Order: sequence, then C-alpha cells, then structure tokens
Amino acid sequence: MKNLILEKLKQKKDYTSGEELSGLFNVSRTAIWKHINELRKEGYHIISSTRKGYQLVDTPDILDSREVRIPAGQLIGKEIIHFEEIDSTNNYAKKIANEGCRDGTVVVSERQTMARGRVGRQWESFTNEGLWFSIVLRPDLEPEYIKIVTLAAAVAVVEGISEVQGIVCGIKWPNDIILNGRKLGGILTELSAEPEHINYVVVGIGININQDKNSFNAEIKNKATSLRIHTGETVSRVRLLEGILTGFDRIYSIMLQRRTQEIIDSWSGYSVTLGKEVKIVLKNTEYIGLAQSIASDGRLIVKCNDGVIREIAAGEIQV
Ligand code: BTN
Repeated sequence: MKNLILEKLKQKKDYTSGEELSGLFNVSRTAIWKHINELRKEGYHIISSTRKGYQLVDTPDILDSREVRIPAGQLIGKEIIHFEEIDSTNNYAKKIANEGCRDGTVVVSERQTMARGRVGRQWESFTNEGLWFSIVLRPDLEPEYIKIVTLAAAVAVVEGISEVQGIVCGIKWPNDIILNGRKLGGILTELSAEPEHINYVVVGIGININQDKNSFNAEIKNKATSLRIHTGETVSRVRLLEGILTGFDRIYSIMLQRRTQEIIDSWSGYSVTLGKEVKIVLKNTEYIGLAQSIASDGRLIVKCNDGVIREIAAGEIQV
C-alpha cells in the first residue's frame, strides 16, 4: 500500500489530495497519513497542505527497486534484491544462485559487515558511502570464458561511470577501477562450474562513491579514492547503479554472442596496465616485465625481463 501511494505521488508533479488517495486505495485518510509518515521516515520528502494534500518533492538515494529504474527489456537488474545490511552481497548472491534465481538478478546492500575483496582481503563497505552489489549471471558459456566475464565487468563499470558522471576511469589488470592513480573500485568474480559448463557466475562490484579523505582506514588511505573526493560533490548512487547495470546488460549480450575480441579491445582502451612495466606477484615467485596485451582467453601477456613471454591468469600486479 505504502509503495502504491508512493507511485501515485511520483506520477503527479503537483499535490494529490488525501481524499483522492483514500478513495483510490479504499482506506481511511488516517491510514494514508500513516503511510505518508512511514515514507518520510525512509527519506522521502513529502510536503503536505491541509487543503491540497500531499506532494513528493524529493526522493532518497536508496538502492531499492522503487528508486532504481531499469529500462524495459533489460535483463540485468530486472530483479533487484535490496538489503539495509548484509554480511556480503556475494554470499547472498551465491545462495540464491544455488536456489535457482534468474539470470541477471542483482543483490545490493546499503552496507556490508563482512565484505570480501580479492585474494582474501577485507572490503570496507559503510552505509551511503558506496555501491556494494553483486550480479548473478547464468551465461551459456564454457568455464574458460570466466576471465572474459571479469574483464567485461570492469568495462561495464567504467562505461557506466563515464555515462552518468562524465569521468573516464582506467582499469588495472584484471579489474581494479582506477581514478587519478588510486583505487576507486574493485570486482570479485566467483564461479560455479562443471568441466564443460558454467552453472553461474557472481560478479561482486564495490565502488567508492561518497567517502571523504578521512573515511578510509590507515591501510588504504593513500591508495583509495572516491567519486566525491574527485568531484567535490555528493554523487547519486541510484543514478550510477542504473548506468552500470545498463552498461552491463549491453556488454553481457556481446559476451553471450562470444564476441570476446570486442570486450578485450574495449578493456585495452581503458587499461592503465598495458605498455607499462609491471611486477607480477605470484604465490611463490615474482616477475618483472612489460605488459604487452591480453590473450584471447583474458590472460595478461607479459614479456618478462628473463626474456620469457608469460601469460598470467591470476595474481596481483604492481604497475
Ligand atoms: C577487490 O578486491 O578489488 C574486489 C572488491 C569487491 C568488493 C565487492 S562489494 C560487493 C561484493 N560483496 C563482497 O563481499 N565483495 C564484493
């Protein structure tokens, strides 16, 4: 009922009388008033006048399906599951993927209590400070496409930010989102597969949006940035999520058609790694060399200082 009232107020740029609302939904005017107050508590700015009724003047930056608009026909984000708080959106996404949720389902949370980064790191995710979400994909592809999925996710994030904010970020292999030499976001891709077939992929995306310089902990303070630090302004997380999901939808259809070279070309265009000297840190060893290009399966091709050309599948690189 509360959300139906909200929809009605959204449709009208002017006042809607309490009488009209109570007639429309067949409830008392007191009940309407109670729902309006609940919406106000959630951050909806609704003004009222005894004679004219209620008018919605501003909406909050809440990442639920009432605010995040998904264009008709778009697969990614057609279903959005929203939490105020969760341990990790990736954990929940894996749970519902195992239970059979639909391709393109998005799990988003205002904050996470145990968010995970790559290589077992923690990921800070406080309320209103960023976008913390996971996308469940069920691509009809073989497991060897997983690295391409990861590269595609990074391209979708960069293109979404560029579309909505007009800021062009870089990508550090495989999928760190870089702004002014600092980390703006990261992607954690988790796979469930049979030898010949992907069951599902969970793509977990974290983007720093509204932190200021003092928000980051001591460990990442000098390495991290946010869109607010860059622009000096508070950024709408809702608009950004919409842009990224739409960008993701476009690149997902390219991926399903196995047009992988197009994804690699886009990724290479945003890369801050290719053409640079890199240090590759593997479990038991390190290599230094020139990052040359991306192989057709998404691996990073590096001409190492010992003269050997290596194709790197995983691990950390320092540029
Ligand atoms: C990285 O280390 O760069 C990857 C960070 C990924 C963080 C995101 S936030 C949403 C999703 N849930 C998680 O627990 N991790 C990812």
